[in-house]
Amino acid sequence: MAKSYKIAVLPGDGTGPEVVAEGNKVLLAAAAKFGFALDLTTFDFGGDRYLKTGEVLPESAVGDLQQFDSIYLGAIGHPDVKPGILEKGILLKLRFELDQYINLRPVRLYPGVETPLKDKTPEDIDYAVIRENSGGIYTGTGGISMKDTPQEVAVQSMVYNRHQVERCLRYAFEYTRKFGKKARGKGDANTLGLVGKTNVLTYVFDLWERAFHQIGEQDYPDVKREYYHVDATCMWMVKSPEWFDVLVTSNMFGDIITDLGAETQGGMGIAAGGNINPQGVSMFEPIGGSAPKYTGKNIINPLAAICAGAMMLETLGETEAAVAIEDAVKKVTGSEIKSLSAGKMGCTTSQVGDLVAERV
Ligand code: IPM
Ligand code: MN
Repeated sequence: MAKSYKIAVLPGDGTGPEVVAEGNKVLLAAAAKFGFALDLTTFDFGGDRYLKTGEVLPESAVGDLQQFDSIYLGAIGHPDVKPGILEKGILLKLRFELDQYINLRPVRLYPGVETPLKDKTPEDIDYAVIRENSGGIYTGTGGISMKDTPQEVAVQSMVYNRHQVERCLRYAFEYTRKFGKKARGKGDANTLGLVGKTNVLTYVFDLWERAFHQIGEQDYPDVKREYYHVDATCMWMVKSPEWFDVLVTSNMFGDIITDLGAETQGGMGIAAGGNINPQGVSMFEPIGGSAPKYTGKNIINPLAAICAGAMMLETLGETEAAVAIEDAVKKVTGSEIKSLSAGKMGCTTSQVGDLVAERV
């Protein structure tokens, strides 16, 4: 019998449902072609449900989602809901409760896509960021006292324990060994760069740096190690992205630099990410958000969601199907669509899905 995967689909808010519909179309085409089955179950978590029921995420959600092989997410964020409620109550809650401690975000310029970086080509913009996804300032303790007085104090601390740092670094070393530039025939070394701020955050990044070199020296001597400050990383991401192979960094720094990275690869229309628990249930999403102003217009670019679907298949072990989707996306960006921006693609959201599905 053909292999079958149980996928929880969370279309979410805004344009999420539209891009996920195209993602599903492409995933099902790939499944048919490569001989496996996808059993899709949709959940209505998001802003509309919250506004109707007052409940952000039902009590049973985490347990229910744990029964699936993977989660495919559209976008979370609703214009009528105060910022933070849905993001923290759905997206971050799922990341933390399902212990998706890796956020994998490739920064890859596809053929035919315009980058704001002058004279840079797909050869130059081709690296991956591994963002720690379970700790740091996102889960550090904090609070406000003496609110609305001149003495008001607000604290939000960056907290990492050795276990969180080590498991993230080990994943990053493994990933670099497998998918670094040498492994892909694109260079003479597989290089992992740690992105930190050891010159100022002398506690947290001291821990990261020591763990990085200890683990690297002991278990991954074949992987070349580099260290970069986060501010300089931003500069080089613009000036010399070809220097990078795989980068690993903390949650907050990873959040910030991957938006910059996405812009250099042509924008949020193409940027995909995976929230990965290597031992558990992972969740794949376009990283661009719900883009509510484009909702229902059939003009949003679904390629980021489609690429997130490819990452999901790769993680499930369906590498051939994942590569076929990636190749199909490259054909479409290379010749069929005019731009990655919503409304400027020269075709509709569903036409882009059709084009990729046909080419798979
Ligand atoms: C992202 C987003 C989220 C984050 C927000 C929506 C909570 O910006 O996935 O990068 O900060 O992680
Ligand atoms: Mn972000």
